[in-house]
Amino acid sequence: MKPLIIANWKCNPKSFKEAKKLFKIIPKKKEVIICPPSLYFCLGEKVNLGSQNCFLKEGAFTGEISPKMLKSLRINYVILGHSERRQIFEETDELIKEKVRACLKENLKVILCIGEKKGQNTLSVLKKQLIAFEKKVFAIAYEPVWAIGTGNACSPLQAKKTLEFIKSKNKTNVLYGGSANGSNFKEYLGVGFDGVLVGGASLKIEEFKKMI
Ligand code: PGA
Repeated sequence: MKPLIIANWKCNPKSFKEAKKLFKIIPKKKEVIICPPSLYFCLGEKVNLGSQNCFLKEGAFTGEISPKMLKSLRINYVILGHSERRQIFEETDELIKEKVRACLKENLKVILCIGEKKGQNTLSVLKKQLIAFEKKVFAIAYEPVWAIGTGNACSPLQAKKTLEFIKSKNKTNVLYGGSANGSNFKEYLGVGFDGVLVGGASLKIEEFKKMI
């Protein structure tokens, strides 16, 4: 299988016009998946889309979107458990586990993010976070929190140890995320990752083109 490139635009770019420009360079390839803010889904009809988050169900949950809504728009992928959701929005392992189940029930392809903060023991954090892990997730993204958005990526050899740990639990796709960019991403593929989850670099047109 070709390496997966999953773009997490987070809360960017700031305008519809800029989002249009970014979408223009995205090819319709099954291994390239774009996760924009949901307001911009309507611009991505020609590409594979994913959501950056999702709630459990529809109803009186102001500000949320549901797995069924995503499915009905053919948004087939969903990122769950991103460290920004865990830290800023205080999502717990238990909630993430419920979300994973709710999304799998709708046959969405779940990209589950896990990773330790600086100074924490990687494997013990991962073991705890993997309670949300279900055999049927589409991919697990190993994203050390200290490497996200810092330009200080985890070395491929260090990341490889975590990759092996995850692969020993399940044969799902394993992605690396955390300051992956046009210059370093091949090194992660080289040590065995099935792809990358890219934040900042996916917003830079030339750099992301290079990765694609
Ligand atoms: P980054 O973000 O590539 O900007 O470090 C990755 C992510 O948060 O998924």
